[in-house]
Amino acid sequence: MKPNEDISNDKRLQKILNIIYEVASGNYDIYEEIDDKGDELDAVIIGLNMLVYELSENQGIKKLNEQLTDAINDLKSTQAQLVQSQKMEALGTLAGGIAHDFNNILVSILGNAELGLMELSQDRQERAYFENILESGERAANLVRQIVTFSRMEATRLKSVNLASIIPEALKIARATIPTNIEIRQDVLEVCPNIMADATQIYQIMLNLCTNAYHAMEDTGGVLEVTLKEWIGPPPALEMKAENYLELSVKDNGCGISKEDQERIFDPFFTTKEVGKGTGLGLAVVFGIVEKHQGKITLDSTIDKGTTISIFFPTTANEVSKETNKESVIARKGEADSPVRLILIVDDEPMISRVYKRFLEKRGYVVTVCSDGYDALALFKKNPNQFDLVLTDQAMPNMTGKQLAKELLTIRPDLPVLLSTGYSDVITEEEAQELGIRKYLMKPVKLENLKQEIDECLRSSG
Ligand SMILES: Nc1ncnc2c1ncn2[C@@H]1O[C@H](COP(=O)(O)OP(=O)(O)OP(=O)(O)O)[C@@H](O)[C@H]1O
Ligand SMILES: [Mg+2]
Repeated sequence: MKPNEDISNDKRLQKILNIIYEVASGNYDIYEEIDDKGDELDAVIIGLNMLVYELSENQGIKKLNEQLTDAINDLKSTQAQLVQSQKMEALGTLAGGIAHDFNNILVSILGNAELGLMELSQDRQERAYFENILESGERAANLVRQIVTFSRMEATRLKSVNLASIIPEALKIARATIPTNIEIRQDVLEVCPNIMADATQIYQIMLNLCTNAYHAMEDTGGVLEVTLKEWIGPPPALEMKAENYLELSVKDNGCGISKEDQERIFDPFFTTKEVGKGTGLGLAVVFGIVEKHQGKITLDSTIDKGTTISIFFPTTANEVSKETNKESVIARKGEADSPVRLILIVDDEPMISRVYKRFLEKRGYVVTVCSDGYDALALFKKNPNQFDLVLTDQAMPNMTGKQLAKELLTIRPDLPVLLSTGYSDVITEEEAQELGIRKYLMKPVKLENLKQEIDECLRSSG
């Protein structure tokens, strides 16, 4: 085989290829042309060395080499992503398996602790035990929520929402958990375009970022600054497709993050905090949520100076009222103002219905419990006006909450139905609304919140 004519345009290259070709074909005379004498093998080696040198100087080859390096790097990062997504998938499966049962257990633990507190007068020492149970239980509930969001099991319900109202509300809640040696400043737009988002998840982002900022300044105190600004045109240096953006930043002047750690902070379970203080899921969750919102996240951090995390959300043209947003973040207040209300609870988990029943009865409601959708339907049919409200679980063996709600609402369209569900995407809030279900509650629901939701439904149905 003769050396390829195309790559031998360069005369020097041609000469070297010739040497190699001739030597390889057994013509060692060519050897005379090489200044540096040696045996046949040396001639080939010298030829090859010269070839390598020439090739490395050849622009076409250089480019090819760069492309090859890029391709190899791409491949490496795809491989890393694959490993990462496999990890997430495994975690997702695990979360899916335990989240449902775990939440039911938590409803029972939290509910019983709340009931215990209700029984004890203010001066009793034992209240501290129940308060501790509540606090730990809520941490556990939060952890399940993080894992589930992170593994993307939870149905994301993107709606047109306005950050100008969600952010200050979320900050109010964050303020309650952050000590006063940390000053919170906010520079948030009064009016801004909407984004397509899940308000609860935005709230979760805020809580995770603010908690991290607080931990970074815990020993020294400092300033936590939250800003919301608008970008007309995509933010520079970010490859983003949408036209306009909102930038949400959380800045602290705390301990900062080393360059080495900066590479890893978004990895699930990466934490520098002691056991019991951090699980390393906060930023992984934030990252997952931002991805689902088609956003981008940037990090700017200097050791001992502080950290800024910014999130960019594509905006929409729509407008919604501020009130709608507030409602989805914060539980509404309200008291039942009617004399006696009859409630039907349908749940296949007796430990849950028992807690709900006891709680609601203490609050003056009359409660009937069914553990199966068919029984509930049969009971309801006997006298469709006997209940003022139905609270049903979604995941039940014989008939789902959704099916039951459909049947009930066909018989009595004005019936307030509350659907409570664990983490599943079997039904979305929109779907629930379409079916005529008044409220959609994510387990575990705090009893006081449950009561507020029930009162709200009862009030609106008159
Ligand atoms: N604002 C910050 N300042 C300094 N370090 C930070 C900041 N935010 C995150 N980090 C670092 O990134 C790590 C990962 O953060 P992440 O929120 O994912 O987990 P965590 O806070 O350790 O635990 P979790 O949020 O699950 O309770 C933290 O342990 C910390 O080392
Ligand atoms: Mg955190």
